[in-house]
Amino acid sequence: MSGTDLPPPRWVAAADLAAFGDRETLCVSVGGSRVALVRLAGGIFAISDTCPHMQASLSGGTVVGEHIECPAHYALFEIRTGKATGGLACRDLRTWPVRVDGSTVMVGV
Ligand code: FES
Repeated sequence: MSGTDLPPPRWVAAADLAAFGDRETLCVSVGGSRVALVRLAGGIFAISDTCPHMQASLSGGTVVGEHIECPAHYALFEIRTGKATGGLACRDLRTWPVRVDGSTVMVGV
């Protein structure tokens, strides 16, 4: 294993697939972190639920295209990458890998 190789994730059941629809968010607790699951046409993505500006819950925000807008002060983040792209976003969001196993959304920690 080289210095850049990461160990494979440990997959944790995070939610039922039926718990949220397309372009909706769901806040879950995974591995001690608050995670916002977001479903887009291209799949399900897991980003930190905590806005780095003043810790608002991003799962209460609005999905705008492929971005999520913080409900408190309207910072924008790319859902697929967690990248901060506008407003008061002061740093990128943590992201986690996601896979779907039957009807269960699994998050890699
Ligand atoms: S808490 Fe999210 S932009 Fe201020």
